Amino acid sequence: MLPETRTALRDGLRADLAGLTDREPRFFRAPGRVNLIGEHVDYCGGLVLPLAIDRETIVAVAPRDDRRIRIRSRERGEITGFDLDEPLPQPERSWVDYVRGMALALRRRIPLAGADLAIGTTLPLGGGLSSSAAFEIAVGMALVALAGKPLSPRELARAAQEAENGFVGVQSGIMDPLACTFGVRDHALLIDCRSEVVTPVRLPAGIAIAIVDSGTRRALASSAYNQRRAETQEAARLLGVPLLRDVSPERFAREEAQLPEPLRRRARHVIGEIARVAATADALRRGDLATAGMLMNASHASLRDDYEVSIPQLDRLVEAAQGIEGVYGARMTGAGFGGSIVVLLRADTVAALARAFGDALTIVHAADGASALA
Ligand code: GLA
Repeated sequence: MLPETRTALRDGLRADLAGLTDREPRFFRAPGRVNLIGEHVDYCGGLVLPLAIDRETIVAVAPRDDRRIRIRSRERGEITGFDLDEPLPQPERSWVDYVRGMALALRRRIPLAGADLAIGTTLPLGGGLSSSAAFEIAVGMALVALAGKPLSPRELARAAQEAENGFVGVQSGIMDPLACTFGVRDHALLIDCRSEVVTPVRLPAGIAIAIVDSGTRRALASSAYNQRRAETQEAARLLGVPLLRDVSPERFAREEAQLPEPLRRRARHVIGEIARVAATADALRRGDLATAGMLMNASHASLRDDYEVSIPQLDRLVEAAQGIEGVYGARMTGAGFGGSIVVLLRADTVAALARAFGDALTIVHAADGASALA
């Protein structure tokens, strides 16, 4: 994040909050993430390799004397709120659900207090960069700070997943909240989503990571997402294991014939992808970027053909990127059905990528996870 961008957003939020309260604000930030590889495997207990990025959501927060939460969003230009003690909170299918869902999940862990919040972001909304986890974690940090009782970063991440699963209605995994909480500057994060152990992997020098936004957002993405998740659970059940993570590629090769289509292809993606993540982390550690890039390309093909979560716009961007000199690999990133692609390339060829993709291109850097701002 450029220091001046962060300062400008903070100043804007300070002014927004001054319209709600005359109390002094505190500020918290949570980054978005891009996933290098390991897509649609977190909810199967698999390995993923995301990084927190230098695009973030910032919250300004001040205490209230009553039990209300009021929140003002820069992006939506709206103020909304709710009572912390409302008896039966119901989702409204709007952005306030993230705040309400987070408050509910946190209340199961610690007592909360009323708050005025102003929120803004430098992340594209719905662009596959985890704007929703960044939103939830930033709001969560703010609410926890006012609660006066500590909560570990891991519990905060779990609360964000619970908010999505139990309130917003997306059966998402733990990758996004963990990436945005545990990010480490200049590192990707190898996350074992079964044990929730996060291992930073230093990114080799001389590379760049680029995002290209397809500009497409699919409204039905969450129902297709939930359907994929259900298919992997059914495949695991048929193979007699709790999670597809528990099936090695060798065992899958022996037993895949037991599975009907499309479950066979879905499981093939998940099991192959988990192996690709482990191999990519090893390749990055060795500085073997050609192998890392090849594995990213293979990940895209698998998401397109076996998991069927890509769309033609993403496929075209990926193919175009893969054809540019200096690009090691490219693939769709995030849930799919729209959103962005991620490109791993030589730092000295960024200009060629910029010529090809223009304004749709963003170069990102690995950033630290969520924190208070001084
Ligand atoms: C979304 C979800 C994550 C993960 C990815 C796909 O980003 O929030 O939990 O499942 O899709 O890898």
